[in-house]
Amino acid sequence: MTGAGGQLDGKVVLVTGGARGLGAAVARAVAAGGGRAVVTDVLVAEGTALVEELNGEYGDGAARFHRHDVTSEPGWEAAVAFAVREFGRLDGLVNNAGTSGGELLAEADVARFREIVEVNLVGVFIGVKTVVPALREAGGGSIVNISSAAGLTGMARTAGYGASKWGVRGLSKIGAVELAEAGIRVNSVHPGMTYTDMTAHVGIEVGAGKYPGTPLGRVGVPQEIASAVAFLLSDAAAYVTGAELAVDGGWTAGLVPQRPAGRQGPVGRGRSPRSDTGNPVSRR
Ligand SMILES: NC(=O)c1ccc[n+]([C@@H]2O[C@H](COP(=O)([O-])OP(=O)(O)OC[C@H]3O[C@@H](n4cnc5c(N)ncnc54)[C@H](O)[C@@H]3O)[C@@H](O)[C@H]2O)c1
Repeated sequence: MTGAGGQLDGKVVLVTGGARGLGAAVARAVAAGGGRAVVTDVLVAEGTALVEELNGEYGDGAARFHRHDVTSEPGWEAAVAFAVREFGRLDGLVNNAGTSGGELLAEADVARFREIVEVNLVGVFIGVKTVVPALREAGGGSIVNISSAAGLTGMARTAGYGASKWGVRGLSKIGAVELAEAGIRVNSVHPGMTYTDMTAHVGIEVGAGKYPGTPLGRVGVPQEIASAVAFLLSDAAAYVTGAELAVDGGWTAGLVPQRPAGRQGPVGRGRSPRSDTGNPVSRR
């Protein structure tokens, strides 16, 4: 089981895009850690099913679902009000909802670029701005913004996606600096290739040795991202703010040296076996 092992006792955490994938794993980690998860998403059936599962496993009151589109400012006001109404307080926010695209920069559609930035960056901005009063009221809190490995390095085929994730990284630093006086910590998490609905279609497989372009040799699974998020939400991270935590199997640390086929001698700098670097691309 993932989670912070009671480290999140009593903490109320709003998780956007929490109906599936990394967000669902984070909601599970919150409940497993003794906290209460406010799961929000545009996917109502999946979100409701997850919340029922968590309440069944951890007791009624472990989780609630609220339909919420992160691009809507009134939607954010309603989501925060819902969390406070249901649980009496709010201690954390995980800005996880996201969408991706896999076009080359020179070919990327302008409307789609705007759409991606609207969800991945503007949505995060509105979220941070909107939760501040509730977190202040709680005496402080923790905001975790899900960026990406594509927000740490320039990856091909991530025009809108990479730009938005670099923006999330920058916004997190600004939040850390401005909100520390309110006891609010803001950090960014940068997952590498992780097996979810967003990435499954690019042909990745879970398991040792299945992703050799990454130093650890495999893709991540959602629970591995969720445990890093749970740490940042917890009091164990009380002195951590403005940090960028790569949870990527070493993907952004550097390239794995590979010997050219049939050659002896010193190794060269290798590259991912995927010519497109295996970015999280989506058909959504
Ligand atoms: N899977 C990976 O390899 C990977 C790598 C790096 C970063 N990430 C990031 O992690 C986050 C979660 O991704 P995932 O892999 O779980 O993808 P996913 O597609 O499985 O989940 C994304 C969730 O966000 C929701 N969402 C999308 N637009 C929304 C909107 N406007 N309002 C509210 N909810 C919305 C979706 O309904 C979905 O439930 C994203 O921000 C993604 O960019 C994922």
